[in-house]
Amino acid sequence: MKIHPVAVCCWCRNHLVEVDRIWWCQTPACSRRQREHGLGVHGGKGGGWQWRYVPTPKQVEFDACQAKYVLYGGAAGPGKSHAARWALYRRCLRIPNYRALILRRTYPELETTHLDKMEIEEPLIGAKFTKSERTMAFPQTGALIRCGHMDDKDAEVMAEALISIATTMKGAA
Ligand SMILES: Nc1ncnc2c1ncn2[C@@H]1O[C@H](COP(=O)(O)OP(=O)(O)OP(=O)(O)O)[C@@H](O)[C@H]1O
Ligand SMILES: [Mg+2]
Ligand SMILES: [Zn+2]
Repeated sequence: MKIHPVAVCCWCRNHLVEVDRIWWCQTPACSRRQREHGLGVHGGKGGGWQWRYVPTPKQVEFDACQAKYVLYGGAAGPGKSHAARWALYRRCLRIPNYRALILRRTYPELETTHLDKMEIEEPLIGAKFTKSERTMAFPQTGALIRCGHMDDKDAEVMAEALISIATTMKGAA
């Protein structure tokens, strides 16, 4: 167990601790909320529980927020993009025919921030990633994540779709 020198829980201000590459708050009530917003599977050796994603307390706040439009900003690197993508995976695994759109300004940004990660994460969540189509499909529920960038000729159409998705996400935690 490693105590993070700087990162503290946004709820109780306790320092986060690392166990098996997951950052937990040491306060039981906080770690319970982290688990509630995480994603895991039964599998691996012995069929035990394996976490695929455990959000930090700040990432839980993002996932749990019921506002119509959520702005998640802050310092570089604490996991905004990761939290956004896994929040969508959680919804896609639970909500039949859920539709989501991930947009970045340019294709290179989209590729490094999300597409490369989705390729790695595909087997972890039992989804089907097709890089040429920039989609992640969830056969379990019929849900679909589409990715695009604002240099796309139909970026405007996608932006309109985004507004309807933001509306759908409200209350879908
Ligand atoms: N809850 C988590 N569990 C495991 N890894 C995480 C978690 N949150 C973030 N990471 C990892 O931390 C790194 C930084 O995350 P990410 O790229 O999402 O940060 P960011 O806030 O979007 O950064 P930037 O400001 O550069 O856009 C990535 O390697 C990501 O996989
Ligand atoms: Mg980012
Ligand atoms: Zn805490």
